[in-house]
Amino acid sequence: MKATHWALVAALLFAVAGPAAAAGWRHLGDADRVERRPDGVVVHSGTARLEVRVHAGGVFRVRLAPDGTFDADPSWAVVQGAEPVRVRIDETRAAVRVVGDGVAAIVQRSPLRVDFVDGNGRTLLADEASLPLAWLPGEHGTRVRVWKSMPEDEHYYGLGDKAGPLDRRGRAFAMWNRDAYSWQGHTDPLYKSIPFFIGLRGGIAYGVFFDNTHRSSFDFGTESDGVLSFGAEGGALDYYFIAGPQPAQVIERYTALTGRTPLPPLWSLGFQQSRYSYNPEAKVREIAKQLREHRIPADAIYLDIDYQKGYAPFTVDRAQFPGFERMIADLRGEGLRTVLITDLHIKHDPGNGYAAFDSGLRADAFIRNPDGSLYVGEVWPGDAVFPDFTLSRVRGWWGGLYRDFAAMGAAGYWNDMNEPAVFDGPGGTMPLDTPHRMDDGTTREHREIHNVYGMLNARATYEGLLELQPARRPFVLTRAAYAGAQRYAATWTGDNTASWHHLAQSTPNLLSLGLSGMALAGDDVGGFIGSPPPDLLTRWFQLGAFNPVFRNHAATDTRPHEAWVDGPQHEVLRREAIELRYRLMPYLYTAAEENARTGMPIMRPVFLRYPQAEAFYSNDRDFLFGGDLFVAPVVDERLDAHAVSLPPGAWYAFGTSQRFVASKEPVRIDPRPSRTPLYARAGAIVPMQALVQHTGEVPAGPLELQVYLPEAGSEECRGALYQDDGETFGYRDGKFLRVTYACSAEAAVASVSAQVAHDGFTPWWSATRVTMFGVPQRPSAVRVDGRAIAGWKHDASAKTVTLEVRGGVRDWTVEVLR
Ligand code: NOJ
Repeated sequence: MKATHWALVAALLFAVAGPAAAAGWRHLGDADRVERRPDGVVVHSGTARLEVRVHAGGVFRVRLAPDGTFDADPSWAVVQGAEPVRVRIDETRAAVRVVGDGVAAIVQRSPLRVDFVDGNGRTLLADEASLPLAWLPGEHGTRVRVWKSMPEDEHYYGLGDKAGPLDRRGRAFAMWNRDAYSWQGHTDPLYKSIPFFIGLRGGIAYGVFFDNTHRSSFDFGTESDGVLSFGAEGGALDYYFIAGPQPAQVIERYTALTGRTPLPPLWSLGFQQSRYSYNPEAKVREIAKQLREHRIPADAIYLDIDYQKGYAPFTVDRAQFPGFERMIADLRGEGLRTVLITDLHIKHDPGNGYAAFDSGLRADAFIRNPDGSLYVGEVWPGDAVFPDFTLSRVRGWWGGLYRDFAAMGAAGYWNDMNEPAVFDGPGGTMPLDTPHRMDDGTTREHREIHNVYGMLNARATYEGLLELQPARRPFVLTRAAYAGAQRYAATWTGDNTASWHHLAQSTPNLLSLGLSGMALAGDDVGGFIGSPPPDLLTRWFQLGAFNPVFRNHAATDTRPHEAWVDGPQHEVLRREAIELRYRLMPYLYTAAEENARTGMPIMRPVFLRYPQAEAFYSNDRDFLFGGDLFVAPVVDERLDAHAVSLPPGAWYAFGTSQRFVASKEPVRIDPRPSRTPLYARAGAIVPMQALVQHTGEVPAGPLELQVYLPEAGSEECRGALYQDDGETFGYRDGKFLRVTYACSAEAAVASVSAQVAHDGFTPWWSATRVTMFGVPQRPSAVRVDGRAIAGWKHDASAKTVTLEVRGGVRDWTVEVLR
């Protein structure tokens, strides 16, 4: 680098990044030499090398090797191998352009840095010219960091379930999995580390995935106004730039890179009842009985740590649960699955015949201190040991621990405390120099493995269950995660609090998890810590009904949180919310399948469908549930009227023909609604079913299709239905049903049609009941497949037409002549 550059950089470093950057950071200088590769370039700058390659369509990988050697470490997160893409490389005196799939990485030579530019010449993301990539050698590895220009009008999303607003602009975050008991809006870090964010400006989005498992940090303008940066305390500077231009495409590409959530078992989308803890056995049976007596639809009951003997995972306290197996079977008979907590810390209990400890010791499965002795830390059972999940043979051993529970009929497993939480460890976890063994015979310190440890725990559980029950979709709930954890487990937001603030926080957290690849997420409905007043608990049920995972859970010393505990008025509202979720199950399951196939979240910020709708860039309250329903929940205790601003286009109040057109003025709902305001897009076709008490119950009656007619020739009108057995992997062999629906509304005729896209599964229904909303005049005739039918109904006050299409799964067309 030229002397003038150094002076400039040093001055700017001090001004922009403060003294830390000046104290020993080494920044990339100028490019000396460019080596071309088929998919990109490796650029030399002194001893350092910068690699810029096209990894897949619209995805670039950037790596820095300060000493010239690239680390060969395989990623824990990335599952997509480099894909062949046509790459063009042009060199000029100032820069090298690497163009793949319409997006260019412009590698500037002086100082060496990278700008990403789209096909229209718009800069998407550019290194801050005054602060090129840098590294800082230290005692425990080399720190790395990258600084990027931060446009004034850009917004940032993702990073998993960070507390605070959805838009991360103006804040800084650390990635370090932490047992964040009683976390609040300002708490950071929390339980998960998902080093992926989306930038969105004027409707155009890109993503950055920084694949580094060390403690890392992201800064969106706190260090310096116009600069964002990310870096880590060790490991490689290795990141992916992911082009859009739509935010949905960024998510699709990010989840292709790090994997998608497998299709969950249908029952896990039902309502789940939990508590720390339901014990003894009689209490569990009592809760099951109450759920059914109160007609609260539910699919699962969770057993928290008190079912175990001395809190030792994979044991059962027979004194409290004398008929454990019978209980699981009886619950199952009532349509309730049992989910068991199975924490990763194994009680340190030598010589007492504790199988999980003895077999683990024999298999040399536990983490050892640097001196070779067992690492012992305190968690619920007291002294405990910790599986070395980085070893595939240990993951295999762990998976085998589920054999008995699986044989007993337990349906799902809860991997808690897997940050890992260690009560007496430094910083609440294990010492940073604790070695983890790798399959290749090397070891890695805990400081490198910490953030990925919980995900490896979930992976071991998931893969073990697949091994034990190959035909059944596993259900695993994990608290800690790293990027890619969505391949193994659903998640929740940890120990929240029974406060209005936490109710409101739930939505940005869950939206953010969905944007970060982990769509199957929920929070503790009612709040874990503390006792929610009745109104708050009711509102929480009403919001939770639209969360991908809907689980009511509470801590030991809190008042009961079940739906019926506050008398009939509250119970009615809570039941209604849960019932609506069950009625919407075909729609929800279809959204879950879309998530499994494309990565598209189930709960979506409005900008995911309407990227230009800037009014929603900072909306933390409202969201889309699936593609077509807009939820505007009540999340505060003020008693004034509820104001709702609708997304672009026309919307119907759900289940009615009352139509609104989005305008700048919010719709005021007066008085305060007793239910969650819910809207369907004009042009939505929503599949529903009759009410059931659990997902295993066959709905009585036809498939119900709600068709919300658009204006003549305006909004697109479509819907979809996906169904399968809800339990096995048969769908992978084509045993599923996919139907697509379309509608149109012309002056003379409104029509709806079904097209069977894949007919590999016979559903419960043999007829489809179509309800069209937005039909004020009595039609002159209704035709099915061109033939006039009788038996249709027009309701003038509801402005609906209802009719039935018989003949099971088939293509059909309905015409309503106006
Ligand atoms: C901490 C978890 O976050 C909470 O949900 C659970 O109830 C307790 N551990 C006890 O297992």
